[in-house]
Amino acid sequence: MEISFAEADEPRSGAVVVGVWEEAVLTPAARRLDEATDGAIRRALSAAQRFKGKKDELLPIVGPPGLTVNRIILAGLGKPAAMNARFLQQLGGNLVAHLNGAGETEATFAIDVDEADIDPADAAAHLAFGARLKSYRFDKYKTKQKPEQKASLRRIVVTTAVPSVAERAYQPLDKTADAVFFTRDLVSEPANVIYPESLAAEAEALSDLGLTVEVLDEQKMRKLGMNALLGVAQGSARPPRLVVMEWRGAGGDDGPRQPLAFVGKGVTFDTGGISIKPAAGMGDMKWDMAGSAVVIGLMRLLAARKAKVNAVGVVGLVENMPSGTAQRPGDIVTSMSGQTIEVLNTDAEGRLVLADALWYCQDRYKPQLIIDLATLTGAVIVALGHHCAGLFSNNDELASRLIEAGKTVGEEVWRLPLDESYDRDIDSDAADIKNIGGGRAAGSIIGAQFLQRFVNDVPWAHLDIAGTAWSSKDTATVPKGATAFGVRLLDQFVAQHYEKA
Ligand code: BES
Ligand code: MN
Ligand code: ZN
Repeated sequence: MEISFAEADEPRSGAVVVGVWEEAVLTPAARRLDEATDGAIRRALSAAQRFKGKKDELLPIVGPPGLTVNRIILAGLGKPAAMNARFLQQLGGNLVAHLNGAGETEATFAIDVDEADIDPADAAAHLAFGARLKSYRFDKYKTKQKPEQKASLRRIVVTTAVPSVAERAYQPLDKTADAVFFTRDLVSEPANVIYPESLAAEAEALSDLGLTVEVLDEQKMRKLGMNALLGVAQGSARPPRLVVMEWRGAGGDDGPRQPLAFVGKGVTFDTGGISIKPAAGMGDMKWDMAGSAVVIGLMRLLAARKAKVNAVGVVGLVENMPSGTAQRPGDIVTSMSGQTIEVLNTDAEGRLVLADALWYCQDRYKPQLIIDLATLTGAVIVALGHHCAGLFSNNDELASRLIEAGKTVGEEVWRLPLDESYDRDIDSDAADIKNIGGGRAAGSIIGAQFLQRFVNDVPWAHLDIAGTAWSSKDTATVPKGATAFGVRLLDQFVAQHYEKA
């Protein structure tokens, strides 16, 4: 789908979208079209009954008189005071869904929001960004799609008084969409295509953007003592990998040299191992590597937009399989930190992978902060459903920055507690720590407490994205399927607080 910016002109073909404020107040562009169509817009508004110009309302006028366009679409803009970037992204996304549903091939978005307190170039750019985000499809394996099942929309022109400024404002957003699509692709690919070696190769290919990418194989990990991660991998025919990606964009000598660190769980398939999962829904576990795909996508984005920050991404890549060589419940492994772990349930594998990845990351880089992302627990879905990710942190400032960034981009996180009293539940009778708690209570907190045993004094946050990495229904800017939840959140978090102006 091609997106461009241009000054307003009389639309001649396809669809033209104009904005209507709440209480059916026409924007100037809508008023001009109303005149050109001999009052078709006002007639449609009075005939439509329910259309009031509220958020998410769309009213199509098919075959309007006096014009050669196929349709005019009236888009509800709500109240000028509530207009913002996120609203425009959602509108852009809703319009793409609507236009594809109508089989339209081209559209002009003439949504002028001059009444609102938003820069006109930014407004145009965010409208385009939402449209692009919603245009994502993962249909490469569908060989028999009928024309009406395919996306019809080819071209969008966003009209604005300042096309070249809007184009410039759109550039970083376009790169964000590229990274989001890259992450969605990685998460959507099945586990026979994306496994530790192939996922590591995807990360390695990003060195073209100026990232330094290092891949540790089994032998190197064994030397480093990463037996927690290796224990998970030992049941699979596919060898594990640990990928380290560095971006050095801070430049100069002023400001903090220490990198921000992002760590991802990359279980390319999670059968549960010997503590095997039930058959129903097991296919979902192809996306148990979403945390790693978000970290890889974020590093790609920081490099692509040359972010003025130093950052490192570390992802632990394994496949969790049952076999004659698999780890057994009750096995005790010595992690890289030196702490011994009693593995009482081989399905609580993500925390074992992260234990070594987190330790390695803080040991090697002494980062200013660490944020890990993982589809860690089914329990976080019970607690928070599919809207918010679980947030755990040992640092209040870090936590509130993440909450803020999440609200800004629409990838929300909700903080859950950490506490000494929960930590007692993972003391083991036989080793330093066990990988599950005593019962079913507070499963997500127990997972987070486990991870905390592998971070020292550094500010750290853990995002449990088990409920948000994949969506079974469309939202305004995210088609159902892989969401890439976390890429936009963390990019916003970095841009807002850690980049030099
Ligand atoms: N990958 C799963 C968590 C998960 C479940 C993600 C459902 C997305 C949807 C994780 O490895 C797991 O199996 N966790 C167990 C932990 C338990 C054994 C303590 C769980 O949540 O049941
Ligand atoms: Mn598991
Ligand atoms: Zn898992």
